Amino acid sequence: MWVEVDVAAVRHNTRLLVDLVAPAALCAVVKADGYGHGALAVARAALEGGASWLAVATVDEGIALRAGALRAPILVLSEPPPGALAAARDAGLTPTLYTKAGVAAARAVAQRPPPGLAGHPGERAWCSRANAGVSGPGTSEAAALAETGQGAEPAAATEPAAATEPAAATEPEQVAAEPGQAVEPEQAGADGPAAQLEAPWTVHLKVDSGMHRAGADPEDLAALVAAVRSAPGLALGGIWTHLAVADGAGEEDRSFTRRQLRVFDAAIGSTSVAGRRGILRHAANSAGALAYPSAHYDMVRSGIALYGVSPSDALEEVTATLGLRPALSWHAEVSHVRRLPAGARPSYGRARPLPSAAAVATVPVGYADGLPRRYFEAGGTVLIGGRHRPLAGVVTMDQIVVDCGSDVPAAGDRVVLLGQQGSARLRATDWAHTLGTIAYEVLCGIGPRVPRVVVDRDVRSAQPVGAEQEGG
Ligand SMILES: Cc1ncc(COP(=O)(O)O)c(C=O)c1O
Repeated sequence: MWVEVDVAAVRHNTRLLVDLVAPAALCAVVKADGYGHGALAVARAALEGGASWLAVATVDEGIALRAGALRAPILVLSEPPPGALAAARDAGLTPTLYTKAGVAAARAVAQRPPPGLAGHPGERAWCSRANAGVSGPGTSEAAALAETGQGAEPAAATEPAAATEPAAATEPEQVAAEPGQAVEPEQAGADGPAAQLEAPWTVHLKVDSGMHRAGADPEDLAALVAAVRSAPGLALGGIWTHLAVADGAGEEDRSFTRRQLRVFDAAIGSTSVAGRRGILRHAANSAGALAYPSAHYDMVRSGIALYGVSPSDALEEVTATLGLRPALSWHAEVSHVRRLPAGARPSYGRARPLPSAAAVATVPVGYADGLPRRYFEAGGTVLIGGRHRPLAGVVTMDQIVVDCGSDVPAAGDRVVLLGQQGSARLRATDWAHTLGTIAYEVLCGIGPRVPRVVVDRDVRSAQPVGAEQEGG
């Protein structure tokens, strides 16, 4: 049993999203081991496809990307606990901060010299690149669109907002680069130890515009901006927010999203960096990218769309029209076949009698691998012989039983849990419908026992990832 991750699909999806959101930059969200796909493989593919930033949930996830020799700027999406800040700084991660205490802790860490300054060549590249971004549509446009209600329709996704400023990469406040010029890793890596000591640590601030999960109150943003800007060793690289219902189709969700953008604009407008180039403003997740051009600002943080999956049913059509391709498929092989009479009740609990005599295939995948126990009860299927086959009994920890009816499969026959077999397909979204959840949870739920095999359909090569420790 294995999961196949097609990095060509990730590259393809990234290119489409990069084109869609330009001149805004694309930040590839690869937290939770790249939504179950394997963070390193996905991050590399996304960078090849044109993403310029990576985002993770935790400092440890960022350190794992650095250990994979990734040098792109990496945003940590939550304020790290004080005890993790030094590690974040030493790994060149860009933390998100939203509390006074967080800024104070980061300030204290920034004043300590990095240990040994002994990184491998180029390791400091992130430091100089962390602010490199683009300036694009934003504040005024968002307000205008909010008034007219434009920018809220999924159809608008095919027409990215016109840029109000050129797509020039802007220089970090603290980096000795010419305005309009991003610092390349090679240049930055050539910095001497003295320059490294002086290089400030770039942080982003997050404002809560209505999601109410994490972030500063809008009225506290100006003080946080001032605190960061006055802190020796810190540099403000970005201000961002997160949208709660950008994936919704209803008018209530659309008007809430437009309100969030207004709150975000007003919060930035209240600070000393309003209108300033070189401070990345970002708000959109995949749904924001697809449905709200006015939310693109200077950067878009996209996760689920990179993996070729729609953020919601409401955006299914936009996702399909754009041409996003699922990157992940999940495969297994029949391990055993029994012919059972009508009325036999396979698996634990003897939950349901077979309606008629049937060939029942055993497949070595279970809830320990991320196939939820309730998949049987909910009417879930898997693909065998190019057809949807219902489960014949409850999912066990390591195995399922599948009702193949009058078709008699053989041990070794291919089973598709997610993906395509002949003309039949099973998507994470289909599982989500069956299970009453979202595709995100399905993908992130695929367990670490399932080996991830990276394939690159552009070059027709397949390579097991165990050696690179990319398995989830
Ligand atoms: C703060 C933040 N930004 C962006 C994303 C990416 O969201 P999506 O996968 O919907 O693109 C996430 C994911 O949950 C997130 O937490």
